Amino acid sequence: MKIERPRGTRDFLPDEMEKRREIERKMREIAESFGYREIATPTFEHLELFTLKSGEGIVDEMYAFKDKSGRELALRPELTAPVMRMFVNECSVMPRPLRFYYFGNCFRYERPQKGRYREFWQFGVELIGSRSYLADAEVINLAYRILDSLSIKFELQIGHVGILRSLLSPLDNEKASKIMRLIDKGDEEGLLEYMDEIDVDENLREKVLSVIDLKGDESVIDEAREIISFDFSHLERLSEILHDLDVEFEFNLGIARGLDYYTGVVFEIYAEGLGAQKQICGGGSYELASLFGGSETPSTGFAIGFDRVCEVCGVEPEKETTVAVISFKGLESYAFRIADRMRKAGLRVVVDVMERNIRRQMSFANEIDADYAVIIGPEEIEKGLLAVKDLKTQEQKNLSEEEAITTFLSRKRV
Ligand code: HAM
Repeated sequence: MKIERPRGTRDFLPDEMEKRREIERKMREIAESFGYREIATPTFEHLELFTLKSGEGIVDEMYAFKDKSGRELALRPELTAPVMRMFVNECSVMPRPLRFYYFGNCFRYERPQKGRYREFWQFGVELIGSRSYLADAEVINLAYRILDSLSIKFELQIGHVGILRSLLSPLDNEKASKIMRLIDKGDEEGLLEYMDEIDVDENLREKVLSVIDLKGDESVIDEAREIISFDFSHLERLSEILHDLDVEFEFNLGIARGLDYYTGVVFEIYAEGLGAQKQICGGGSYELASLFGGSETPSTGFAIGFDRVCEVCGVEPEKETTVAVISFKGLESYAFRIADRMRKAGLRVVVDVMERNIRRQMSFANEIDADYAVIIGPEEIEKGLLAVKDLKTQEQKNLSEEEAITTFLSRKRV
């Protein structure tokens, strides 16, 4: 019987893992250059961590289960709530702001399709403790720099959930959240029906519909002013600094985000070439610390959908030079020792573990696309030299071990 992997999950073979690691490495490098430090939290948490504020959308998609003692747990659908739980429990006395980044798998019981999985990875950051527009500017700039460094074509859109929330403030929380969710899904029909159903008055209805249509340059702020009295200065200052940083973006006041905890600036990034699941990054400012028993702590952050980025990103990892050490029968331990010395020098070296003859070892070296074969026979041992074959040019030479290592190290593969 063949056992298939669960729906919505993937296996990653070495070529793909190397590409993923390369992309991950670049993301880490840039986050670290901004002073962010890595953290990790558990893969599963108490269910209530996510039901308290993440919103109905997330709760419906949760991998929730009871453990053997009857505790209600859930595989994490995202990392912002876990990071804030950790912050409240472990870091509340650390100097502010705190700059954390994470790379981890998340689980959502969604209908799988291209770019949408039940297990996926997020690379994200949380900047904890500032309510300034500068904090939003920093995390948006960071997301932008990361995606830019990966040569991805993308579009950044910035909004502010405070605008819609204050418009919806006459409604009770549950209704307002449901409206936000319908806006987030882009389900205009559902939105109209729901507003009908709960009898939203004509004036408010018109305002909501006008605000979610506001998209474009700074002039949308002036248009929004006509519709709602709101303090737009945070957005205006953010806009100014992002222009100074050459961060290209568009305002979109219809961004509602699928999670309930956002309070202020929100943003989403979309990539070309992904079809329906083109959102590769989402984030914004939020307040969760007080909900988890800490004092109110304004925070901001984002998460990049790592798998989606990998799908559109052309980064090719640099291939390591591979050396196959091939030995006659009886000389295995000699071969193992030479291989060890070469590895110490920084090379990737494989040896025979199948007890194959020389011919079969050589054809395996070609099959795995090794760059060099080092052949060890009684004659070579006697002369103190190695027979080195360049498997790309078929050229063969006798070299000392030191010369061989220098030759191997000088070849960088493309
Ligand atoms: P989110 O928008 O729910 O935000 O997820 C962030 C990103 O994860 C999305 O933009 C998308 O690229 C990716 N993603 C989500 N679901 C899937 C899936 N099923 N398969 C593949 N990729 C997926 C958050 O999770 C917030 N915690 C972000 C944040 C951090 N806000 C503040 N700090």
